Amino acid sequence: MKVLIVGSGGREHAIAWKLKQSKRVDKLYCAPGNAGIGTIAEIVPISAMDFESLTAFAKKEGIDFTVIGMDDPLVGGIVDAFEKEGLKVFGPKANAAIIEGSKAFSKELMKKYNIPTAKYETFRSYEEAKKYIENGTFPVVLKADGLALGKGVLICNDLEEALEGLDTIMVSKKFGDSGNTVVIEEFLEGPEMSVLAFCDGKTIVPMVSAQDHKRAYDHDEGPNTGGMGTFSPSRVYTKELADKCMTEIYQPTVDALIAENRPFKGIIFFGLMLTKDGMKVIEYNARFGDPETQVVLPRLKTDLLDIFEACVDGTLDKIDVCWEDNAAACVVLASGGYPVKYEKGYEISGIENAEACDNVTVFHAGTALKDGKFVTNGGRVLGVTGVGKDLDEAIKTAYAAVELIDFKDKHYRKDIGIK
Ligand code: AMP
Ligand code: GLY
Repeated sequence: MKVLIVGSGGREHAIAWKLKQSKRVDKLYCAPGNAGIGTIAEIVPISAMDFESLTAFAKKEGIDFTVIGMDDPLVGGIVDAFEKEGLKVFGPKANAAIIEGSKAFSKELMKKYNIPTAKYETFRSYEEAKKYIENGTFPVVLKADGLALGKGVLICNDLEEALEGLDTIMVSKKFGDSGNTVVIEEFLEGPEMSVLAFCDGKTIVPMVSAQDHKRAYDHDEGPNTGGMGTFSPSRVYTKELADKCMTEIYQPTVDALIAENRPFKGIIFFGLMLTKDGMKVIEYNARFGDPETQVVLPRLKTDLLDIFEACVDGTLDKIDVCWEDNAAACVVLASGGYPVKYEKGYEISGIENAEACDNVTVFHAGTALKDGKFVTNGGRVLGVTGVGKDLDEAIKTAYAAVELIDFKDKHYRKDIGIK
């Protein structure tokens, strides 16, 4: 089969790497991809948002199956565009991807179907939001409604910060039209974890758990990023919790989407927090996590293409999704200054040395080729994944490989998996 992947980050590299192991995949393509993905797939220089060119390419090239990695095209209706052309595609339609595209929608869904989440109010008027904040308690959490590259969430410790935050979202519109509506949420505390799940519209199969490190610097300091590293499994997500989540969160979410006439096929990403009152949903995403995918897929035993196809065909209940009894850790190597301001174009050395280590895979997030050499081409540059019998071994393996890779202003967290 000819398979096309849409996206360009470390997540898409991990998806491509796993699909490459499928005996049924003859050729992989990736649009727009990156230099690392180009070592295992043919790069198609079409933007992930150019649905017309992508569907035309898929038809012309005879692509049998397309996998959408990124959120923007999903929320924008890329799956609808492919299906309209009779093309087989993995991912939710726009009317289901809205669980990520609108926080106001997802909060309302959770409230209506009794899915545990933080208490909240939604405002379309700045004045009303301001009044609500002035009469509220702190800390408080402000969320721009729409997609904001994971940056539209502000945790405000007092009234002054909250008013400033509200201004940022609704008046100066730092996150664009995403800030036309704001969700104001109660502040919750507890360990966070990510659970991604395969979904075929009615059946949901959760993957092994993972934990992200969103802040830029060690000890969870500095600005929020797309994710500086991950490990799997989470240290707090027990079998008991998983069972409880299945009956109280996962299946109810899928059933709620059916009841709303928005059946979800693809990956539901549950951002969870274990509070003193039990597990609560912090957010939904409609896609694989990045860099969660880089620690979850290396632990998957089952053929990924078989699972994707079963999701599209509605036969996920017939598939036995199996996992290795091991652990994985991924350390992101970023450009110094990320996520605020950073340079690109620095030569990267040592990738092949890292890849030569046992149980190590290097996933490219932001790289390009210049004169036949890999150079930095983004904030997050590489994700170095180590696999081991337990977390300690996986973390040690990943960090040993990280030491072998170098580029100017290389920045990474030294505490991935420690907390
Ligand atoms: P989100 O983009 O919704 O996942 O939010 C980004 C991060 O903000 C989460 O990973 C949490 O660390 C934090 N956060 C979001 N909502 C809350 C909340 N209600 N209480 C405390 N922290 C939150
Ligand atoms: N790592 C968080 C995300 O993919 O949204």
